[in-house]
Amino acid sequence: MSDAAQRASDQFAAEYGRQPEGVWSAPGRVNLIGEHTDYNGGLVLPFAIDRRTYCAVARREDRVLRVRSATIEGEAQIAIDDLAPEALDGWSAYALGVAWAISQPIAGEPGADLAAASGLDIFLTSEVPLGAGLSSSAAIECAVAVALNELWGLGLDRMALARAGRLAENVAVGAPTGIMDQCASLLGEEDHAVFLDCGTESAESVPLHLDREHLSVLVIDTGVRHEHATGGYGDRRASCERGAEILNVPSLRFVLEEDLPRAASVLDEETYRRVRHVVTESARVASTVRTLQNEGPQAIGDLLLASHASMRDDFEISVPELDLAVESAVRHGALGARMTGGGFGGAAIALVASDAVGEIAAKVTEDFSAAGFGAPRCFKVVPSDGAHRDI
Ligand code: GLA
Repeated sequence: MSDAAQRASDQFAAEYGRQPEGVWSAPGRVNLIGEHTDYNGGLVLPFAIDRRTYCAVARREDRVLRVRSATIEGEAQIAIDDLAPEALDGWSAYALGVAWAISQPIAGEPGADLAAASGLDIFLTSEVPLGAGLSSSAAIECAVAVALNELWGLGLDRMALARAGRLAENVAVGAPTGIMDQCASLLGEEDHAVFLDCGTESAESVPLHLDREHLSVLVIDTGVRHEHATGGYGDRRASCERGAEILNVPSLRFVLEEDLPRAASVLDEETYRRVRHVVTESARVASTVRTLQNEGPQAIGDLLLASHASMRDDFEISVPELDLAVESAVRHGALGARMTGGGFGGAAIALVASDAVGEIAAKVTEDFSAAGFGAPRCFKVVPSDGAHRDI
C-alpha cells in the first residue's frame, strides 16, 4: 500500500469523522506522441505516469454525494436524483460529472441504473500538477470512476469507464476533449505505453523498455497555464471538423498521407495545415510503434521532433516557452523532445539518457532564465500502472 493512499485515508477520516471503505487512485499521463488525433479518430500513444490522484470513499445511508478535496476549500453536495450537468460547476464537476455520466447511455450501451445506488462521501487528493498538460482532470475522473464502479457494483469495463470520463469532461465540465487521457489513466501499465486507435476505441500495450535502455522521460513544465474549456483547443477541433466536412469524410481518420495533395487543392491554406498535422501525426504514431518494436526507444527521437515541428508550424498550438524547452533539451543532449497534451502552454517531454536527467534539467532552466522566462519545473516521469484500488 502506498504512503499517499494511506494519507488520503487519514485525511478522509479527519474530514468526515469516520474511516473510508477504500482508496482508489488513477494516474496522470504524458502523451509520447499523437496530439490532437484522438477526437479525429486517429492514433495516440500516451503512458500513465507515477503521479496519481487518490480518491477515498465511504458509502452513506442516504442518496447524497459529498465531495471535498485537499487542495480546494469547501464541499460540493448533490443528491443522486438531482445529478445533471447544469447542476454541477467548478472543480467538483470532474468528480460528480462522472457519477452523472455513468448513468447515461453511451456508445450503444444503456447507462447504469442508479436507482439503488447509495450516497457517498468522497475525498480527493492529487500529486498531478494542475494545468500542466498532464491530465490532472482525467486522473480525478478515472479515480472516481473506478471507485463508483466497485462501490455501486456496476461491473463496467475500462473502456466504458473511459467513455463516461470523457462524457463528464465534455458535458459536465464543458471541455471538448477526446478519449486519450481517460484511456491512458485507466489502461496504463508499468514500462508500457497505451497504443490506442481512437476510431475503433481499441487499445494495445506497447513495451517501452526505458530502464533496459537506460533512458528516462523528463517533463519540462513551462508554468504557462492553459484551459481546454475555452479558446484554442475548441478552435482547432472546429477546423478539423470543417476540413473533414469539405473533404467529405466522417472524420480525418479517413484521410491518408497520399490524400494530402487533393486536400491542398480544396481546402483553404490554414485548414489544410491543420489537416496535414492530424494526418501526418497519426502516421507518426504508427511509425513510433513500429520503431519501438523493431529498434527500441533510442530510435524514436526524430519522430518526437517531427511531431513538435508539426504542432508548432502546422497546428500552431505551441508557445515560445515550449519551443525553447524542446530546442534546449535537444541541444543539451536529449534524443528527442516535444510538447505534450493539448498545447497553448503546459509541459514538454524530453527523452534523455537516465544519467543526464539532472544536467539537462539544469541547462534547460539556465536557458529559460537567459530568455527571460520563469523557471520551468523539471521532473522525471516513469510509465506506471493505470487506475486501481490501493486500500
Ligand atoms: C487534451 C485532451 C485530449 C487530447 C489532447 C491533445 O489532453 O484532453 O483528449 O485531445 O489534448 O492530443
